[in-house]
Amino acid sequence: MSQSSLPETSRAARIIARCRELARISDVPGETTRLFLSPATRDAHNLLLGWMRDAGLETRVDDIGSVRGLRRAASAEAPTLLLFSHIDTVPNAGAFDGPLGVLLALAAIEELCTQSLPFHIELIAFSEEEGVRFGFPFLSSLAATGQLAPEDLQRKDSAGISVADALREFGLDPERIAASCPLPAGSFAALEVHIEQGPVLDAANEPLAIVEGIIGQSRLSFNFHGHANHAGTTPMSLRHDALAAAAQWITAVESYASARDPLVATVGRIEVLPGGGNVIPGDVMATLDLRHPDDRVRWEAVAALQTAAEQAGATRGVRVTSTLRSQQATVPMNRALTGHLERAAARTGHTARTMFSGAGHDAMILATHVPTTMLFVRSPGGLSHHPDEAVREADVEAALATVLEFVRTLPAA
Ligand code: HGY
Ligand code: MN
Ligand code: MN
Repeated sequence: MSQSSLPETSRAARIIARCRELARISDVPGETTRLFLSPATRDAHNLLLGWMRDAGLETRVDDIGSVRGLRRAASAEAPTLLLFSHIDTVPNAGAFDGPLGVLLALAAIEELCTQSLPFHIELIAFSEEEGVRFGFPFLSSLAATGQLAPEDLQRKDSAGISVADALREFGLDPERIAASCPLPAGSFAALEVHIEQGPVLDAANEPLAIVEGIIGQSRLSFNFHGHANHAGTTPMSLRHDALAAAAQWITAVESYASARDPLVATVGRIEVLPGGGNVIPGDVMATLDLRHPDDRVRWEAVAALQTAAEQAGATRGVRVTSTLRSQQATVPMNRALTGHLERAAARTGHTARTMFSGAGHDAMILATHVPTTMLFVRSPGGLSHHPDEAVREADVEAALATVLEFVRTLPAA
């Protein structure tokens, strides 16, 4: 299914319609759930590849599953501008977290089809940004920047499938990641357009923001190991209730972060075993997501909340262990490129504030290898990672106009 089934409407309406068409490709009927290399990902690839080919791009899927489209400059020696975002989603996602950046960039490339540019443009739809399936984000942009460690390919999902096996099952070759995934050698600038996913632009009633930095994050898993037993015959004083320990810890997580704004801490997933209503929980797995602009404060929070978990367990005879699944330092965007983006926005009549991103993005991975900047588009209601996630057509048009001006006036390398 490569031909777009979209009526000709405004540029922004067409981008939004394509995001919604892509969002209908899901592993769960009636919602948008498309994790890394899931079965639905193949249909998503085919739709996107078709749109890219219709736009005249040379297309391929690399061996980490990212979809790549190349618009060549006249000179083979020209440097390369990277436009990117991601196409994997969280469970029951909205239509715009990731795909908006990919499809707005594609629309910009289509718009520039008659313009001769002094650089190639490579559009990259990264395959694994969210890190939901393997509990490890940015797999595909880490692969593109040569930062994927061999042990990362051995990480396993909840079904015990490793990243390497998932790649093979999808028809990709983990042995060829180093050959097919790197960014083009002449990459000199990178731009990601993304929804803000927060309340700042909505509260300020502004369409766009320039991202000056992306805050760091730590993702951990905690295991509370107690003792399952009969719910009816076991006195409260003789229990080793793993869920009661975890529950005390979760409220401690909330209190700790609430007292240290702008620290944010989230226990997003919990698994309780054995899971019978008449059985005292013997084991609990819980995730922890910690974020703060200052890496030192974030590390202090990791240590403090590990201690809080051990204390919640100790009073119940519950043993607690924790594993750091991933961590990413706070990353500033490239100052010169961010200034160029700011001026491009102003020239199109959209003065955009600068702000930090609380959400992680592939831009924070690329920024350590290529001068990178980001453009945020308002999230109405500040809502994201939710099916009601939205964008406004006028804001998407403002972002497209800004990206076109950014590209048209970008000095090559
Ligand atoms: O979770 C995040 O920070 C982003 O949505 N990947
Ligand atoms: Mn995203
Ligand atoms: Mn996301």
